[in-house]
Amino acid sequence: MISRMKTKMSNLKSAGFRIVILAALLSIPPLTEGADMAEKGKYVLHATGGCSCHTDPNDPQAIMAGNRPLKTPFGPVYTSNITPDAETGIGNWSELDFINAMTKGVRPDGSHLFPVFPYTSFTKMQTDDLKALFAYLKTIAPVERETKPDDMYPPFGWRFGLFFWKLVNFSPGSYQFDQRKSEEWNRGAYLVSGLAHCAECHSPRNITGAVKQNLLFAGTKEGPELELAPNITPDRETGIGSWSQKDLNWFLTSGQKPDGDYTEGVMAEVIDEGYQFLSEADINAMSGYIFSLKPIKNKLD
Ligand code: HEC
Repeated sequence: MISRMKTKMSNLKSAGFRIVILAALLSIPPLTEGADMAEKGKYVLHATGGCSCHTDPNDPQAIMAGNRPLKTPFGPVYTSNITPDAETGIGNWSELDFINAMTKGVRPDGSHLFPVFPYTSFTKMQTDDLKALFAYLKTIAPVERETKPDDMYPPFGWRFGLFFWKLVNFSPGSYQFDQRKSEEWNRGAYLVSGLAHCAECHSPRNITGAVKQNLLFAGTKEGPELELAPNITPDRETGIGSWSQKDLNWFLTSGQKPDGDYTEGVMAEVIDEGYQFLSEADINAMSGYIFSLKPIKNKLD
């Protein structure tokens, strides 16, 4: 009798167990999964510098609504509305549309994006991070705002020319782990060269607007908004070789330089809107990677 009851109990248990397995197989998402994704996406957003170019400092309420003119040597480019508004933002985009824009520089309609939008770096991002970022962008308030048409000087304003530009200057593909280096170094390299896109602003460009690969991170007089972006290679004389790694960690979280001055302009924006929220471990991995770069002598002022 007792043993029969036991079997009944265990039958019941295994039935319950089967339901759990079945639910898992049908992949019924736990209630928090969407929220977790968006939370992770917020961290990814911070690692990119907060997509700060998509918010106009003259209209800070319209978060991510774009239309901010970015000065370039080729004329102004207006950033896109990346709020989830269906008409004027990315509300109608699928996850794949978003991933294609970020990693291939193409819009859902097939047109090419200007490399002012740093897909040349974002292409290195892992798919999981891209999915999370998309999930987070979906949670921000939609703003209805049409993006102004481009104002670039011909031939730079001709989007079809970008097809050829990409053939020469763009190598798509996600970050490749370097087995010879530590986990931490790879994390730093992934963040710096992918999400945080430091080199996009801190490198000189050739006349077609492509980054000069031999001067990566070595600074430029004509940086974003046509401002000077300093040499951040560890060259003692012209770069940040005299800074300690601690100095750089502090700078990336507070904007304060070793001489006590605070940074300004777009660097202050990417710190305020993004990097300052990163974990200590990630900041340390990023600065470790920067100090592992080859020092390049490049005097700018
Ligand atoms: C959107 C463009 C942009 C991005 C992205 C960016 N920077 Fe900067 N950075 C600048 C500009 C412009 C300045 C100069 C600001 C100033 O004059 O205060 C600057 C200043 C600095 C300085 C101060 C150097 C000095 O000698 O005064 C350091 C260090 C630095 N950036 C490191 C980084 C690192 C590391 C990253 C990536 C994690 C990064 N930056 C990403 C544009 C950018």
